[in-house]
Amino acid sequence: MININNIHKSFGPKTVLRGINIDIPDNDILCIIGKSGCGKSVLIKIIVGLLEPDLGTVSIDGNIVSQLDRKSLYKLRRKFGFVFQSAALFDSLTVFENIVLGLYEHGQRDIYYLEQEAIRVLKAVGLLPQTDENDASFINEWKILKDKLPSDLSGGMKKRVGVARALVGNPEYIFYDEPTTGLDPVTSEQIDDLIAELSHKLKVTSIIITHDMFSVYKIANRVVMLNDGLVQFEGTPDDLDKTNDPVVKEFLDRYKNNTNHY
Ligand SMILES: Nc1ncnc2c1ncn2[C@@H]1O[C@H](COP(=O)(O)OP(=O)(O)OP(=O)(O)O)[C@@H](O)[C@H]1O
Ligand SMILES: [Mg+2]
Repeated sequence: MININNIHKSFGPKTVLRGINIDIPDNDILCIIGKSGCGKSVLIKIIVGLLEPDLGTVSIDGNIVSQLDRKSLYKLRRKFGFVFQSAALFDSLTVFENIVLGLYEHGQRDIYYLEQEAIRVLKAVGLLPQTDENDASFINEWKILKDKLPSDLSGGMKKRVGVARALVGNPEYIFYDEPTTGLDPVTSEQIDDLIAELSHKLKVTSIIITHDMFSVYKIANRVVMLNDGLVQFEGTPDDLDKTNDPVVKEFLDRYKNNTNHY
């Protein structure tokens, strides 16, 4: 459970957040929407302790993030998985290396363990078949995939590798920053399906920043719209459709007109 209480954040004279309150229950699929520059990424960074709020608190499973010492913050972060904007894979590293990098950096050298973990998460995102791992065809697919470089992958596959990497270590919370931006409508929908499937199967809490209203209607349980440093709207996608708030309506109209696959 994440409780965001009265979060304020300014950069110099620029006030970005000025009193954000959101509760995110376990297993929620929450989409955060709002104009470019309204502070969505800043809010996520504050939630995970990468940025300090000027005022207010974020509490995760009862721990107030800004009050944790380094060690406890590090421990808390192990509950998080991140899927960054534009997949953010390392171009010079293979699929396997990209996925296990975090484990490797934390001292894990057991190649069997690293491979098993990579296979587990690649199966979860549908890049490897669910068949027996001793099967000759499975071994072959794994061998081919593991040594591929990001440049050998399509946009959708890269995104899946990005999601697979976020699943390493069994996170309880997964943060997605614009997971479908730059993908074609069909691939976007596949990534939406994957996010929803993982949320249900792995019982994780998913927090998704998106500009893709199609995704919002497809997967969100709840939607929060930020505007002018505050929560302008909070509710289900159905509530979003029914709202009479002129600010929300104007935002939705603009997206309906601009999103070619809405
Ligand atoms: N480290 C920083 N230093 C100074 N200003 C920052 C910093 N990080 C963010 N900002 C400013 O805070 C505002 C909100 O940025 P943020 O990245 O959260 O927007 P966003 O809602 O995620 O936008 P987008 O949809 O374009 O990704 C912007 O005006 C940005 O310039
Ligand atoms: Mg952003």
